[in-house]
Amino acid sequence: MQRALASRLAKPFIFLLALAPLGYLLFALLHDALGANPAEALLRGTGLWTLRMLCVLLLVSPLREAMGWTALARLRRMLGLFVFFYAVVHVFAYVWLDQSGQWEDILLDIPKRPFILVGLLALMLLLPLALTSFNAAIRWLGAVRWRRLHQAVYLVALLAILHFFWMRAGKRNFDQVALYAVIIGLLLAWRLRRFFNRRGAHPGTSR
Ligand code: HEM
Repeated sequence: MQRALASRLAKPFIFLLALAPLGYLLFALLHDALGANPAEALLRGTGLWTLRMLCVLLLVSPLREAMGWTALARLRRMLGLFVFFYAVVHVFAYVWLDQSGQWEDILLDIPKRPFILVGLLALMLLLPLALTSFNAAIRWLGAVRWRRLHQAVYLVALLAILHFFWMRAGKRNFDQVALYAVIIGLLLAWRLRRFFNRRGAHPGTSR
């Protein structure tokens, strides 16, 4: 696996794989295969894929450490940008398909469905991460500050679960929310355990 991940084809392959869900949704939209409410299906589909991409991104470090797949580090930036990309497409689906681009309707909708604000907050936090995902930004910020800033991705994950939970609370439908909450909970628990282990090994460091 490590060899496959380190190969020249790994990046283009993962790039196409990450685009496939959007390709499928657009194909289904053009072929009238998204059910009775295609706008809602696209909005929900892109929301779910934002969350799934976030889970994949958070899996990189545990897999790298547990399996020794160090080559995964090369793919992390692209996966992070895909989380942002799917979140932006999700917002486009909301603004242009669900709300027909009517800003007055959006301003009336948000107080009725405050979970949208939680989604917006998650997107606002993703924006600086996407903008500073390049090598020049790492040099500009310095590695320590850059790493601290990028830890905001864990807050994004918590907000994403809150957004999902709140949205489904109106429908009393929590099965899928529970599944993603457990996945994100385990990934955050792994990160916290590593943080405390490192502090135990090197007291005084803040990583
Ligand atoms: C990191 C950011 C975000 C993530 C991970 C995310 C994820 C999700 C998920 C998983 C769903 C539920 C899908 C389903 O029920 O199958 C959803 C629904 C929704 N999201 Fe987001 N979202 C994000 C940001 C946003 C933003 C910024 C907005 C609006 C500006 C937004 C608006 C909505 C709306 C309106 C729904 C409900 C659709 C409906 O009622 O059918 N989301 N989102």
